[in-house]
Amino acid sequence: MTQPSHKPRVLLGITGSVAAYKAVDLIQKLKPLVEVKVVLTDAGSKLVPLKALEKASGSPVWTSLFKGSTPIAPGTPSGSHPLAVVPHIEYAKSADLVLIAPTTADFLAKLSVGMADDLLSTLCLYATCPIWVAPAMNVKMWNHPAVVQNAATLRSRGVRFLGPESGHLACGEVGDGRFAEPSEIAGQVQSYFENFNRWAGKKVLVTAGPTQEPIDPVRVISNHSSGKMGYALAQAALNRGAEVVLVTGPTRLTPPVGVTVVKVKTASEMHRQVMKHLPKMNVMVMAAAVADYRVKSISPIKIKKSQDELSLRLVKNSDILGEVLKKRKPTQKVVGFAAETDHLCENASAKWKRKPSDLLVANQVGGKQSAFENDQNELLVFSRKRAKPVVLKKDFKSKLAEKILDLLDE
Ligand code: PMT
Repeated sequence: MTQPSHKPRVLLGITGSVAAYKAVDLIQKLKPLVEVKVVLTDAGSKLVPLKALEKASGSPVWTSLFKGSTPIAPGTPSGSHPLAVVPHIEYAKSADLVLIAPTTADFLAKLSVGMADDLLSTLCLYATCPIWVAPAMNVKMWNHPAVVQNAATLRSRGVRFLGPESGHLACGEVGDGRFAEPSEIAGQVQSYFENFNRWAGKKVLVTAGPTQEPIDPVRVISNHSSGKMGYALAQAALNRGAEVVLVTGPTRLTPPVGVTVVKVKTASEMHRQVMKHLPKMNVMVMAAAVADYRVKSISPIKIKKSQDELSLRLVKNSDILGEVLKKRKPTQKVVGFAAETDHLCENASAKWKRKPSDLLVANQVGGKQSAFENDQNELLVFSRKRAKPVVLKKDFKSKLAEKILDLLDE
């Protein structure tokens, strides 16, 4: 795929989720970046005024498959009937991206089985460009086995999911199903077009998530890493056209479509996989929260609670980042992380001196603003190309991931 030479064209589909009211904000954020044409479903039109969408996008909103067409007169030569020149069909042909935001459970179902009973679903079958969806629905709907299956089908077909996020939902419940923030969606669109194929031909390995060190067959020592930062970095590298291997500890996240996923549990497994892939990689990004110690003797049976106190003897795990830095070729770039509860700058700087990676990305863990689990983070990045550490202010991890890769490109 090549980068469009024109202003990128985005066909924005808006379906009947309560979050449709945020579509105006989304259009306003997309407009400076891309050309936007809006297709509104019937259900969507019950939730957001068409006029507001037209005003925001500056062009007519398409709602009907047949608007502008007339019944085909008998004897009309094939290829010259009116549907062949209906503008929205023409636009779907030349769109660079179809973005459906918000996407309902109903529309995911339609898309997964290839239905074409309204304008938007028809255009999705017609378009040859990538399709992205930003689901927004109730948590029970999102977790319903039918929706889970439809989402998996779409992912396997290459449809990219932006969210949903976790949090307070319009219905008053709390959980997964929240529409991704318009600024986050617009940011992903921007980075997709800006970074198109910048890293084509590069091989990137990202480690993500926590490790789990077994104590006995049912218990582990682990940490609070959700994997969000590492997965965002894998997606950012993928956005640039790189080939990405994601070595991931156990997380609840769905890996970005297109990455090679290597699932591991323990630090030793992660170590083995990282070392196995190292020789072929151009870039190594070590965002996983790896356990420094493991239990020396794992009990083969569940430890009984017969004693008031229990001691576990721990032994040191291999330092994966340290070994990568020792074994890498001079052309291979390495990004290390530092997670600190206190004295962020001093502790991270000392870590960087001990393990001099090309970039050292430091963040605060513990407390309310912990880098763990949150969708947003703030970072202090030490770069060999900069005299002083760079402060990356609080932002979505996806945005920060792009900025980290930008710094690596300097
Ligand atoms: O997953 P999220 O919830 O999104 O949270 C993101 C994060 C906080 C996990 C991430 O931003 C982060 O800081 N990752 C590194 C966590 C960590 O293990 O930091 P550390 O300071 O203990 O380790 C320093 C570096 O050495 C890290 O690159 C780590 O991957 C690496 N390491 C650590 C131990 C070990 N045995 N081998 C290693 O390679």
